[in-house]
Amino acid sequence: MADSRPRIAVFVSGGGSNLQSLIDATRAGVLHAEIALVVSNLRKAYGLQRAKDAGIDRFVYKVKKYASPEEASAALQEQLREHGIEYIALAGYLKLLPAEVVATFRNKITNIHPALLPKFGGKGMYGHHVHEAVLAAGEKESGVTIHLVDEIYDNGQILDQVKVPVEAEDTPESLASRVLKQEHRLYPRVLQKLIKGEYSVD
Ligand code: GRF
Repeated sequence: MADSRPRIAVFVSGGGSNLQSLIDATRAGVLHAEIALVVSNLRKAYGLQRAKDAGIDRFVYKVKKYASPEEASAALQEQLREHGIEYIALAGYLKLLPAEVVATFRNKITNIHPALLPKFGGKGMYGHHVHEAVLAAGEKESGVTIHLVDEIYDNGQILDQVKVPVEAEDTPESLASRVLKQEHRLYPRVLQKLIKGEYSVD
């Protein structure tokens, strides 16, 4: 029988632990979807290895490899089309998507951010920078935000958030690891709800 599950492309730039949690969730039946493609701007991203281990197609997307940004965008779109992609999940992807992709997949692209947006978001706010900023601001709590993606960094409609406490003795690393645990729980569940049409999207 043909696989009728929606097909997701996951975009990574780094370790890909969120990608792994999504792969595991598809296997556990928490997320009824197929991860059909993993895209990375970095050939060395460990997320690509995770994709390989899981038997998922990979695409290294380097804009500079192409004669123009338009050509690059067309090549990416072709990959998404060829793989029958319906949803895009950004999981530690550090680049902006081409505007054409955002337009084609409007309300079907999600991003995970390791803080409580709209605070501590925007360009340059990624990885340890986020957790350092949260600690420097003396916040009592931080958390995870999953939001829809539009043309601006960390700007689209928030779908879900989970809070975690900030402890007095926290370092950026200890806070990151507390947040990351929640990321791994939340992302598969939010994607499942999005696919089921359970969010009212603006
Ligand atoms: C996560 O903290 C995610 O929220 C942020 O980048 C990190 C990626 O981690 N956008 P990983 O590559 O999924 O392990």
